[in-house]
Amino acid sequence: MSADNPTRARGNALKHICIIMDGNGRWAKKRFMPRFAGHKAGLSTLRKIVAGCVEEELEVLTVFAFSSENWRRPEKEVGLLMELFATALTREVKKLHEHNVQLRVIGELSAFSEKIRTLIDEAVALTANNDGLVFNIAANYGGRWDIMQATRQVALEVKTGELAADDIDEDTIEQHLAMSGLPEPDLFIRTGGEKRISNFILWQLAYCEFYFTDILWPDFNKKMLIKAIDSFHARQRRFGRTGEQLKE
Ligand code: IPE
Ligand code: IPE
Ligand code: MG
Repeated sequence: MSADNPTRARGNALKHICIIMDGNGRWAKKRFMPRFAGHKAGLSTLRKIVAGCVEEELEVLTVFAFSSENWRRPEKEVGLLMELFATALTREVKKLHEHNVQLRVIGELSAFSEKIRTLIDEAVALTANNDGLVFNIAANYGGRWDIMQATRQVALEVKTGELAADDIDEDTIEQHLAMSGLPEPDLFIRTGGEKRISNFILWQLAYCEFYFTDILWPDFNKKMLIKAIDSFHARQRRFGRTGEQLKE
């Protein structure tokens, strides 16, 4: 990473952006198109935003592609989303690899079809040694699921005697979360106007900066991403301290 990394040139250090890509359905509805057309348009926005993050030399981009609650949608929409996920994994991975992107997928993957799981494994294996942008896709991910599965692993370690209950601290939990080892998100972006977390990353958002925009995800672009980054740099991150302490 170069010293004049654009994402770090101003204000706060920015390593990790996470995005709730919301508003695909409404984007399509406004155009009298089926919701799926919005998801397709959303994929092409994602392609541009990943390229933008590579250009900006960001370390990690995490996107919410499918939540653990999205199975509640009509069967047809879920089916089409799965097809789109499979197509994207097949068609996009080579380009990501050429751009030195390391792909990761976080979530309860056992719920996906064998075909999708194989595609995920292949894409992750192909890009595992890349040291550019870490592109993290949250699929069948839920923030509560993540804390629950980490707790389960910790409980097992206590049961087998590897770990004493008294030794459990915040780092112990953190080390078992799906994103363990990556820097925490610094900036959270949600498009589509809603102002909620919708069970996205919970633990690591403790001190994240939030940015909400009414722009629907298919209309989001690199310029808007830079606007969000600029807003992030203009903030004072105090982490509990006073503004005066930070000036010292
Ligand atoms: C986000 O867009 C994409 C997924 C949840 C897969 P939506 O499909 O939620 O779009 P809106 O919120 O209905 O407009
Ligand atoms: C969150 O969006 C999940 C994704 C973007 C994948 P939703 O559209 O599902 O969130 P809610 O249901 O409006 O909170
Ligand atoms: Mg939505």
